[in-house]
Amino acid sequence: MEMLTVRRSSVRLFLDFLAPSTLRSCSRHYASAASVPPSTAGTKPLYILNKRQREYLDSALRVNQAGELAATLIYTAQTPQVVRSHPHLRPLMKHMYEQEVGHLNTFNALIAKHQVRPTMMYPIWEQAATFLGWSTGAMGREAAMACTEAVETEIGTHYNEQVREILSWEAEAERRGEELDPELKEMVSTFRRIRDEELEHLDHAVENDSKEAKPYDPLVNVIRLGCRVAIKISERV
Ligand SMILES: [Fe+2]
Ligand SMILES: [Fe+2]
Repeated sequence: MEMLTVRRSSVRLFLDFLAPSTLRSCSRHYASAASVPPSTAGTKPLYILNKRQREYLDSALRVNQAGELAATLIYTAQTPQVVRSHPHLRPLMKHMYEQEVGHLNTFNALIAKHQVRPTMMYPIWEQAATFLGWSTGAMGREAAMACTEAVETEIGTHYNEQVREILSWEAEAERRGEELDPELKEMVSTFRRIRDEELEHLDHAVENDSKEAKPYDPLVNVIRLGCRVAIKISERV
């Protein structure tokens, strides 16, 4: 838990140890039994996802899209309140918001491409995220930053679990003499980039006194718990 709150370089080293990059950039739909024929994969046969892996991927994309929508709404609600009393934070809030919009656009495109159903909890998460952003913004700069710290700690961990899972499929494919679909390799690369950007947000939050929020522990703990619950529900519903 505390590992994710240390400096960026240490975090990256730690995460790269857990989920090293072995990726090349490319593009095509990921293989399932009903999609790309193995003959198009190149010299090695294409690794075909089983049902559990396809379901995992669907859940991951559904959760990620919902999470990124929530992130944009949190910043939308927080930013006016934070920059009113701390105008120097306007560029930072704008930067983080714009990155979240980029993440949301990425997952909107991915769920459309792979025909993944968005979470049915969408309207609830919209309300919850807006309330979270508004309330922490009203509590002040430190609470707003503590909100980012809490959310990004959970989301950074979550993205990293997804990276590790897909890399374990790649390792299995190699053991079998098969090749992971280029689309999946590109997806891992995307997840790693977004994970790193989320962890930069976490660093920005700590640099801007998230730890000075009062009351820090109950606030961060309840937000982190809320994130974990929302992830679990969105995986299924
Ligand atoms: Fe994001
Ligand atoms: Fe973020």
